[in-house]
Amino acid sequence: MREFLHMPNTAESHSTAGGVAAINAPSTPTAVTGIAPEEIKRYMQLYAANPLFGYHDKWIISDNPYRRPIDQQAVTRHDFSRPLKREEAFGSSALAAQRMLFNVYETDFVFLPEKDFAAKRADFESFYSNENKLLGELIRPTLETHLFGFLEEEIDISGKWSAAAVESYLRHLIENHERSEIDILSAVLSSLDPEKAALTLLIQVAGDFLTESSSSARNLLGKFGLVQSELFKIAIDDYGYGVHKAKHSTLFESTLETCGLATEAHAYWHFYLTGSLALNNYYHYVCRDHSKFFRAIGAIAVGESLFAHTCRKFSEMLRAVFGNRVDTYYFDEHYHIDAHHGRMATENVVAPAIAKYGDSVIPEIVRGMEELQSITSLADDDFMAQLIWADDLEGQRTAASRIHQSGLSQDAESRITTAVLRKGDPISTRACDADSLWLVESGTLELVAGHDRSIQIEAGEGIVVLRGRLHGASSVSPECLYHVYELKD
Ligand SMILES: [Fe+2]
Ligand SMILES: [Fe+2]
Repeated sequence: MREFLHMPNTAESHSTAGGVAAINAPSTPTAVTGIAPEEIKRYMQLYAANPLFGYHDKWIISDNPYRRPIDQQAVTRHDFSRPLKREEAFGSSALAAQRMLFNVYETDFVFLPEKDFAAKRADFESFYSNENKLLGELIRPTLETHLFGFLEEEIDISGKWSAAAVESYLRHLIENHERSEIDILSAVLSSLDPEKAALTLLIQVAGDFLTESSSSARNLLGKFGLVQSELFKIAIDDYGYGVHKAKHSTLFESTLETCGLATEAHAYWHFYLTGSLALNNYYHYVCRDHSKFFRAIGAIAVGESLFAHTCRKFSEMLRAVFGNRVDTYYFDEHYHIDAHHGRMATENVVAPAIAKYGDSVIPEIVRGMEELQSITSLADDDFMAQLIWADDLEGQRTAASRIHQSGLSQDAESRITTAVLRKGDPISTRACDADSLWLVESGTLELVAGHDRSIQIEAGEGIVVLRGRLHGASSVSPECLYHVYELKD
């Protein structure tokens, strides 16, 4: 029932990143934890220093669900003690925080490798160790406020709400959604390389679909009557009634396999966009903290209600791109079942919850509905911006040479770094807070913009990396010397 949802991009466009935050933490304890921000920052650095979260040597992390790189330098550099603004949602701080938070949440779930457990046993023990979990719990509230605090300001639930108004709000939402082509799917189809664009999208949703329903299943334990059993019905559909080959995540594995992608959890960790992590984390955020239960059922009702149409269009897109070789059953199944789940969530979960717990829970339910849409539009913006940039790597190389030839001006650019990469050096992906110009002085650099999306930059050439865009680099030659300049204009 925990679904990845897409809808027309109705939100205004948002710029992709803000400036690098200076560490300027107030010394008063935070209201959330009672621990001073400096202390929390120290715990974050300790958390990120876990070797499991260090750099990796391959772009695809094969069959080890505990290896989840975090940009440790970004953790050291940024101030996580204030809420980010929406326009900072794809910056370096946001990416590091989303990765940490995702790891914190997912230590609640069971992950086991497909093969050779013995060789990965030490990682398994470290991931589930009390040290990792306790550090995670200490930093979690600060990360949540940093990443989702802007929603409190952005969304104002005012006016007079009733159960009938909630029902009509949802009905309009579904009607609008069902008239849409869905922007991210149109973006894939109009991409210069629709196959690679479709793979990029499948990778984004894999972070959720391969553990489908896990975060909302957090609401199933406890005792709260009829609504609990209705939520359970949605979850058991997603879990295939205990038949493994009918489990929705198993169906999705087949989609991945038929598109030539790995099916292990988080194999493509390096390529999860910040917006995609935000959407996954949002469900955890409201489903793990049971004081947000009513927000959670609002979000689940919207997710379930819109997912049917999304899946119908997703399936059409996959068939248009890959033809008969792709198994679209995951999406075809959801087209049927989520029309039903949407009704169940609305009529059997939201409506009875309002009837039983009173109108005072409505603003929280509607907040969940609004927040999910806001985070979804963020994820969609991020995906589409990445697609445009990754499609245009050649154009970005040309732009770099134009800037280079016109001469670097002291006012317009400042050098951030000069670096030497050696072939086989550990690799990572990151996002920057400003547009940057990369110039290769010697050797050959491979600039990576996603799975199977890269460009080689030779000595004397360069490339522009746009702010907020996920990127990584490796050396194709034994050694590569390059400079990075921040573009001020
Ligand atoms: Fe569902
Ligand atoms: Fe499902």
